[in-house]
Amino acid sequence: MRAVRDCALRLAFPLMKQAMQMEAISAIHTKEDSNMNPKQIALVQESFAKVLPIADPAAAMFYKRLFETAPELKALFKGDMQQQGKRLMSMIGVAVGKLNDLPGLAPALHDLGRRHAGYGVKPENYAPVGGALLWTLEQGLGAAFTDEVKQAWTAVYGVLADSMMNAAVGSSQTTIRSSGTALASK
Ligand code: HEM
Repeated sequence: MRAVRDCALRLAFPLMKQAMQMEAISAIHTKEDSNMNPKQIALVQESFAKVLPIADPAAAMFYKRLFETAPELKALFKGDMQQQGKRLMSMIGVAVGKLNDLPGLAPALHDLGRRHAGYGVKPENYAPVGGALLWTLEQGLGAAFTDEVKQAWTAVYGVLADSMMNAAVGSSQTTIRSSGTALASK
């Protein structure tokens, strides 16, 4: 009887182990997939195309909102804010256009992230910036800024911010791999 039980356990154990491993892998994939899926990429690309014609005023609104909600960040910006607005919108445009090719986009985001660390930007500064970005998109898109579009931008900003932050600390530490927290405070 004991021999039969031992035999059954020996057979069942590898299967259970495999099932647990597969569950763990699928949990990781689900998390990765939920960061940004193809539908969300399309929604972000379509909605950004609508913002492009008003890129300059949108950038001005973005910084006004950012400095209202996080006045402590104003001191980090030393240059001309109109030029800065153009650079920001242009970089967002490049990133949004390449969302289907993250490996191709990564080097530019890593460089950007490292430059940002040099400007004095800290990981916790990404949340208010993400909040101001979502607010600006809401103002610019009006009714077209649906919940689905909002979630898509939240996911995309999380991916961009994570990539920049991870490069800034020089590793892919899990402590700041958190699309959720990139917008957590807004
Ligand atoms: C997706 C996120 C972001 C994008 C795409 C972005 C894009 C840019 C770009 C294109 C520049 C121009 C200079 C350069 O290319 O190095 C810039 C500068 C800068 N950004 Fe960002 N940025 C992002 C997030 C942030 C965050 C979270 C902060 C925090 C406050 C920030 C603060 C700054 C500052 C201080 C500068 C330099 C301004 C100056 O020299 O006056 N950015 N950013």
